[in-house]
Amino acid sequence: MASARSNLCVLSVLLLAAVCDAHWGWWAPVPVVPAAPPTPVEAILSENFYSYTCPQATAVVKKVVLDILKKNRNLAGGFLRMHFHDCWVNGCDGSLLLNSTADNQAERDGFTNFLIRGIQEIDEIKEALEKVCPNTVSCADILALAARDATAGVGGPSWPVYLGRRDSRVSRALDADTNLPFPSLNFTELVQNFAPKGFGPREMIVLSGSHTIGRTHCNGIGPNLYNYTGIDDLTNPALDSKFARVLKKKCPKGNRTNIVDMDRTKNLFDREYFKGVLNHKGVFISDLALIENSFGLSVVTELVAKSSSFFKEFADAMVKMGNLSPLTGTQGEIRKHCQFVN
Ligand code: HEM
Ligand SMILES: *[C@@H]1O[C@H](CO)[C@@H](O)[C@H](O)[C@H]1NC(C)=O
Ligand SMILES: *[C@@H]1O[C@H](CO)[C@@H](O)[C@H](O)[C@H]1NC(C)=O
Ligand SMILES: *[C@@H]1O[C@H](CO)[C@@H](O)[C@H](O)[C@H]1NC(C)=O
Ligand SMILES: *[C@@H]1O[C@H](CO)[C@@H](O)[C@H](O)[C@H]1NC(C)=O
Repeated sequence: MASARSNLCVLSVLLLAAVCDAHWGWWAPVPVVPAAPPTPVEAILSENFYSYTCPQATAVVKKVVLDILKKNRNLAGGFLRMHFHDCWVNGCDGSLLLNSTADNQAERDGFTNFLIRGIQEIDEIKEALEKVCPNTVSCADILALAARDATAGVGGPSWPVYLGRRDSRVSRALDADTNLPFPSLNFTELVQNFAPKGFGPREMIVLSGSHTIGRTHCNGIGPNLYNYTGIDDLTNPALDSKFARVLKKKCPKGNRTNIVDMDRTKNLFDREYFKGVLNHKGVFISDLALIENSFGLSVVTELVAKSSSFFKEFADAMVKMGNLSPLTGTQGEIRKHCQFVN
């Protein structure tokens, strides 16, 4: 039947072009089958993804996030950082939240996620969502919404969050530590860390502006104070000496767990971080590295200006980050509890 039809096709190609279309490949000497263009992530994810299945989703996340910030504004830093750490490791798939098991060390137990905070607060949001629409909203989407709402909630920019990410069933500490940037990196190394994800040097600098909120443990500051470029007892020469003394007091040698503010206005998303960097007051080697060359110095100098496009560029970069290789369609699952696979 099919072959009779394609013979007919060959004979009457001019008259029956429409019928033959589907059988073109049978007789055309050089079949030209253009590859389907890859579907852009923006065409899969959508702001309205839950408009039928859970119309309250975005409002519920926002309410719980703002309630949490009312009790502790500083936690905005936790929310923003978790989204970054989720997306940077095999895409925004909620893998950061999974707990380790007897035979698997999960991402959150990697070096780069040392004492990461906010996972219990994501559980609170998930619980509230499970009450209104069970088994519907992914943990990866919750992370994306919470990061946006927390940032906007402490004075930062807002941005559209495209939804429809699904949750992974895999999480490995090694993947976190091979993908996430260490605070001891220099400019070149930071650029090399961001490039494979599709982010240029300027976007790297803009996103580092997140260090305008939240806190750090001494763990990440150590190499800046006591072990610059791996040399014992060497302080980063780029670090302001007075600020170095202050940091050394807060972080005695070997102490990993004391807490230090990220900038002078830890609970406000503003340009103060870049101001600190320009004044050589950066808590990490990677912060001071932003002005290590003339390119970085000029970008930071530009961004620090009150009239600069920092907020707009930050928002754009966050949308881009949130679109990093999500699981969609039937991939992954919608977790019932964010710390455990179903
Ligand atoms: C450029 C390379 C980056 C490095 C080396 C880096 C490193 C770090 C380190 C070591 C901490 C301290 C964590 C702790 O001790 O609890 C931290 C905190 C933080 N990071 Fe980054 N980070 C980078 C980029 C980013 C990006 C792109 C974002 C978000 C888009 C981000 C958001 C944050 C936030 C909000 C905090 C505060 C966390 C809190 O308050 O709990 N960072 N970062
Ligand atoms: C996650 O795993 C750790 C052990 O690795 C355990 O102490 C902790 O209670 C677990 N968290 C939850 C929510 O079960
Ligand atoms: C950055 O670090 C790399 C080692 O990873 C080193 O080769 C390079 O010289 C450093 N760059 C600068 C400007 O110090
Ligand atoms: C400093 O860095 C080197 C090389 O990375 C490491 O072997 C050494 O243990 C570090 N020292 C301290 C005090 O962290
Ligand atoms: C770090 O210092 C604080 C107080 O300054 C102390 O309570 C804590 O035990 C120290 N931790 C380590 C690992 O030295």
